[in-house]
Parts: sequence; C-alpha cells; structure tokens
Amino acid sequence: MTDTAERCRLVILISGRGSNMQAIVDTVRENKLNAQICAVISNKKDAAGLEWAQQRGIKTHVVEHKHYPDREAFDNDLARVIDAYQPDYVLLAGFMRILTAGFVERYARRLINIHPSLLPLFPGLNTHQLAIDSGMQWHGCTVHFVTSVLDSGPILAQGVVPILAGDTAQALSERLLDKEHQVFSQVVRWLAEDRISLDDSNVVRVRDIASRAFV
Ligand code: GRF
Repeated sequence: MTDTAERCRLVILISGRGSNMQAIVDTVRENKLNAQICAVISNKKDAAGLEWAQQRGIKTHVVEHKHYPDREAFDNDLARVIDAYQPDYVLLAGFMRILTAGFVERYARRLINIHPSLLPLFPGLNTHQLAIDSGMQWHGCTVHFVTSVLDSGPILAQGVVPILAGDTAQALSERLLDKEHQVFSQVVRWLAEDRISLDDSNVVRVRDIASRAFV
C-alpha cells in the first residue's frame, strides 16, 4: 500500500460558514497529519465554506435537500456522493440536517458530529440560550459518534467555556466556537493517528490519551 492509500480518508459535511471544517483542514495541513480531506459536501449551495474549500483545492459537492421528495431520497444521493471517496470517517461539521436511520447505520462507527452543548444536556437547537436560561455556569461542545437517536451516541471529546454575566446567546456561541475548533481538530488528530475508535460493542477505545476534556 502506498502512503496515500493508508492515510485516514475524511469527508466533511457542512451547511454554512464551515468554520469547524476550516479548523480541521488547517490542522490536517499545518501539522501534516496522516489524513486526507477527500471532499467537502454541503446541502446548501450558498454555504460559505464551499468557496473556502475550493480555494484550497478541495473537491466540493452540493446535494441540496430541497430538491428531494423525502429524507430517504436525499440521504441515498448524499451517500452515493460520499461513497465515491471511500472515507474512513464522515465528519458532520455544522451539517444541519437530520439523517435517516438507514444513513446512520451505513456509516456506523464512521459518522462523527459536533454539537454545541455538553451532551446529554440540551440536544437539538437553541443550545446557547437554553444553557443561559437554565442558570448553568458552564457551556460546552461535544464531539460524538452518531447514532439514530438525535445528538446522542458515544462521546469522543468535550470542551467547556464559562457563561459570563450578561451573556447573550450570540456572545456565548462565539466564545464556544473557538473551543469547538480546538476539540474537533484534536479528535481528527486522534483519528489520523489511529488513537481513538468505536468498537463493535459501541465502546470508545483510546490509546495514549490521558484526557478527552478541554477546559
Ligand atoms: C457549530 O456551532 C456547530 O456546533 C453547530 O453548527 C455550528 C456550525 O458552525 N452544529 P460552522 O459552520 O462550523 O462555522
């Protein structure tokens, strides 16, 4: 096998600005990780992250969910585009679509999401406001393997930021975003170095990782 064939193959799915995707791409390239960003795929054609990726020579695709009659038809086409790259992992980096159980099953142990809360707290939308309203003093992000239960699944890593007096959801989301970039990039480094994985019993297995908590 050539070096290239052995590299960890990544496909990244986005829906918007793609700042997490950018952080991952920069981390892979600047640190010469044993990983390859095979493609960036968006369900929205005006996603800002697409242009950023193109400018860096990364293949991009648009699979617009609005052109499909139902989730299954969309997911099938999305899977067709993804599978052409034979990825080791599919990273959901701000991909704002709920995926069908069939899709999740197809990529079992290979599908990874970042969610802007300390799961299992606050699955779904509006996480920043919910954290403020609950009186929490910490907010966080979670990188996790995807299962058919929304924003659930075995946790790879988490990061926290303080909630400050007078915080708005906007201010808090901006503070958390930096932490998201740090946590997701570190997880990608572990994947590239084959130091973290999900075993057949859905238990996260690690090698030489002392902590998966980022403060
Ligand atoms: C991030 O906050 C992510 O956690 C959430 O959507 C946002 C996407 O941001 N799922 P970006 O597109 O990576 O900049």
